[in-house]
Amino acid sequence: MTTADSTPAAAQTGPLSSAADDDWWRTAVIYQIYPRSFADGDGDGTGDLPGITGRLDHLADLGVDALWLSPFYPSPQRDGGYDVADYRAVDPRYGTLADFDQLLARAHGLGIRVIVDLVPNHCSSEHAAFRAALAAAPGSDERALFHFRDGRGPDGSLPPNDWTSMFEGAAWTRVTEADGRPGQWYLHLFDPSQPDWNWDNPAVRADFGRTLRFWLDRGVDGFRVDVCDALVKAPGLPDWPRPTHGVIEPVDGVMPPMWDQEGIHEIFRGWRRLLDSYDGRRILCAEAWLPPDRAARIIRADEMHQAFNFRFLETPWQAGPLRKVITESLAANDAVGAPTTWVLSNHDVMRHASRFGYDGQVELEHGVGADDPQPDRPLGLRRARAATALMLALPGSAYLYQGEELGLPEATSLPDAARQDPVWERSGHRIRGRDGCRVPLPWTEEGPALGFGTGTGSDTWLPQPSDYGSYAVAAQRGRPGSTLELYRTLLDLRRRYRLGEGTLTWVASSDDVPRPGGDDVLHLANGPVEVVANLGGHPVPLPPAARVLAASEPVTTEVPPDATVWFTTGEADTTGEANTA
Ligand code: NOJ
Repeated sequence: MTTADSTPAAAQTGPLSSAADDDWWRTAVIYQIYPRSFADGDGDGTGDLPGITGRLDHLADLGVDALWLSPFYPSPQRDGGYDVADYRAVDPRYGTLADFDQLLARAHGLGIRVIVDLVPNHCSSEHAAFRAALAAAPGSDERALFHFRDGRGPDGSLPPNDWTSMFEGAAWTRVTEADGRPGQWYLHLFDPSQPDWNWDNPAVRADFGRTLRFWLDRGVDGFRVDVCDALVKAPGLPDWPRPTHGVIEPVDGVMPPMWDQEGIHEIFRGWRRLLDSYDGRRILCAEAWLPPDRAARIIRADEMHQAFNFRFLETPWQAGPLRKVITESLAANDAVGAPTTWVLSNHDVMRHASRFGYDGQVELEHGVGADDPQPDRPLGLRRARAATALMLALPGSAYLYQGEELGLPEATSLPDAARQDPVWERSGHRIRGRDGCRVPLPWTEEGPALGFGTGTGSDTWLPQPSDYGSYAVAAQRGRPGSTLELYRTLLDLRRRYRLGEGTLTWVASSDDVPRPGGDDVLHLANGPVEVVANLGGHPVPLPPAARVLAASEPVTTEVPPDATVWFTTGEADTTGEANTA
């Protein structure tokens, strides 16, 4: 099937098509690129595909297995590209399809797989199909691609149901009909510029099949699937007098009518059959903020391959809750034969180097502005390094978000005037949103846009904080103890010891090593590698025979507070070399 005439050359080349690698995704470390903010090849202040291609050596040097590209499709950018106006093209701001093919070929040449973002729940209000729907009459085939309904109340001036948008306000917007009168309403779980597709309509399913084939034929290795748990809505779109957002869990055994409906699984099975008809192993990763047992249903053997573990991401830096979420995640995914994934940061949450710099008193979901309490940066970074060292020791697959390998903090002092996240306006400036984790990356300590761009201009689409230069790749590469070197060391050891394929065993805290503050310690083994993460306030002694492989902070015979150490105790171990970056 991949040899169809439309298949670009890139799909047939590269070292990654071997059937022997079919299970790559079970253990892969996958690096998320937010194209707008990774590297700017043409110096216009916005990242682009040639910029990414020019920086792929960084990912090869870091040692990741795959990269995931957030959307680069034509989009008005009302929601950072998650408002797609054309699913089978590249936004001119980001380049061309030829640029995409080059990126893919270069990545494959470096041994890095490429996953792209699929945004099937909604499109942009600029999408041709939605524009046609607006121009068409109520009841038309064009409107049937979306959820158009008459309003409630005598004059239809009330929304068709009580659902709220994830970005605040009602989940419905009323349109003006061709005769100039207020007319029907359309559903949007997110911004009004993001109308929800009607997945009950076979034409929607067929069109997404074309989109999947388009990118598979070009040679992509898979898709990260945006809000995949919202595609199917409960019949009749019943009221749900609770917020749409927050923790998505059953209430009295019933899932909210916009989330995790049974019908989603049939869609995923169809996609899986399609992907399996291609050579190599192409994968689907579910974005669904569901509890582990619900998310696991999406990754049963004939559905998607893996799902983000957001429960892990949401867990504070506390030993008990972390041990619980790690154990439960592995159990839920083992039960369906799927790998567990691990993630600490992405483009929707505060960077973990800042998140761990708070001790729980601040409402982080709303974003942080210059006037809000600021994180304790050294503490946040120290804990972030320790948390990453814990995460990368776990079996399964892990996701990294661009910049976390630099220990990059959240931009918590962005001027409000610069904010672009739609939630900032929709919430009446109550919720600051997610811009703080999306600031363009620093590549060099100095110079225009800190090396983000190639031009002479230093203006970037979001301003870079003045101290971002000290976190630059160039400032950290080769510097012992830097966060970048720590990540390189951990990824190298993870690969050499095959930790992704391993099995986790908790080492009892009452072993022969007496530990002050034992409840604050996580001690695990994965194959020959043992890991001690000290989440308490006192140093914890290492076993006398410990040979340290890596450590998030300098260690001697003890693990200091807020630090994680990898070590072996076996004499016969020859795989690892001591490396305490
Ligand atoms: C999840 C994406 O990660 C987020 O950035 C976006 O705003 C929503 N889905 C809507 O597409």
